[in-house]
Amino acid sequence: MQQVKAVVALAKGAPVEVVTINVPDPGPGEAVVKVQACGVCHTDLHYREGGINDDFPFLLGHEAAGLVEAVGPDVTSVAPGDFVVLNWRAVCGDCRACNRGEPQYCFATHNATQKMTLEDGTELSPALGIGAFAEKTLVAAGQCTKVDPSARAAAVGLLGCGVMAGLGAAINTGNVGRGSTVAVIGCGGVGMAAIAGSALAGASRIIAVDVDDRKLELARSMGATHTVNSSEVDAVEAIRSHTPPPDATGHEGGADVVIDAVGRPETWKQAFYARDLAGTVVLVGVPTPDMKVPDIPLIDVFGRGGSLKSSWYGDCLPSRDFPMLVDLYQQGRLDLDAFVSEEIGLDDVEAAFDTMHSGGVLRSVVIL
Ligand SMILES: NC(=O)c1ccc[n+]([C@@H]2O[C@H](COP(=O)([O-])OP(=O)(O)OC[C@H]3O[C@@H](n4cnc5c(N)ncnc54)[C@H](O)[C@@H]3O)[C@@H](O)[C@H]2O)c1
Ligand SMILES: [Zn+2]
Ligand SMILES: [Zn+2]
Repeated sequence: MQQVKAVVALAKGAPVEVVTINVPDPGPGEAVVKVQACGVCHTDLHYREGGINDDFPFLLGHEAAGLVEAVGPDVTSVAPGDFVVLNWRAVCGDCRACNRGEPQYCFATHNATQKMTLEDGTELSPALGIGAFAEKTLVAAGQCTKVDPSARAAAVGLLGCGVMAGLGAAINTGNVGRGSTVAVIGCGGVGMAAIAGSALAGASRIIAVDVDDRKLELARSMGATHTVNSSEVDAVEAIRSHTPPPDATGHEGGADVVIDAVGRPETWKQAFYARDLAGTVVLVGVPTPDMKVPDIPLIDVFGRGGSLKSSWYGDCLPSRDFPMLVDLYQQGRLDLDAFVSEEIGLDDVEAAFDTMHSGGVLRSVVIL
């Protein structure tokens, strides 16, 4: 066991604190990772606000890269010294989803078995089974995905959650491909990655929607072809006006794929009506438990066809997607550096939550 500094949410809504925690030595199937960088994701704030569940205290942070320090006796997939991006989808290989060849939907993903604790022994709940706003963290070995060790930790660590969620929402869940028309509602780290992913996949039109002009400006540099400030104009009308005109049947038209990267009833409703007939809605923003499906006539669900999907972690398979995306980054074809708005310390996480709300940043990244 060793003691390290970490950022913990002790009680619902209370500011986070840097405290000393106990990290057990790795047992069977586990690894201790020396964290080098960890991004601040909106989901960390959801945890702090009690929006995910009430299992306080939470050890926050889950978009991280670092070096494996030690592994349990039976671990062969990684070794001390390996440079890894942490993932929250360590697939079991044995559940129904894994057995039918769809491990991205694994029902029984692995986390560390032992618990990290506060100094007094209180067990911590690591955010998404990771908890990486910490000098060191204990994870399941399968949560460590080896990538090119010459890559910048602050940039590739972001693949561990939000950026992968956004890229995958477009490419994996939404099946965006060459010639697709796409609209992305909400241009934070996740939405901006959906824009970058759509550009990478060859989408012909990428319409960025946000309420903050600074985000919309940045969206253009990520590949958006059109921008819409939905606090000024009607998002649905604007998205329709930026997609190819509807055919002679007179329906309204819209985008082939609309990605809701906010996760609120009103943005999901915009996504629902801004997609073309037989189009796809992808919900990647995470709603809070009190939110309800918006009031939509069932005949509209039937009549508009297509599919209404949710995207967990961009339907990614870390072992397949992380090394490939790091390769594209290293070649200069995927600008992960553009997602790193500022580098901060462990003490600055609470301030980073404020910055998230005041806009202007995609990701504040804690450097350790
Ligand atoms: N599904 C997943 O696997 C997954 C993974 C990571 C994060 N998320 C979720 O994705 C969402 C976005 O995360 P993020 O880190 O990008 O957050 P963020 O706070 O960085 O970005 C949110 C963006 O939405 C914009 N916005 C807010 N209200 C809006 C509205 N009504 N219309 C249009 N734009 C609006 C904001 O201006 C901001 O640019 C969060 O809910 C987060 O929890 C989901
Ligand atoms: Zn499984
Ligand atoms: Zn996240």
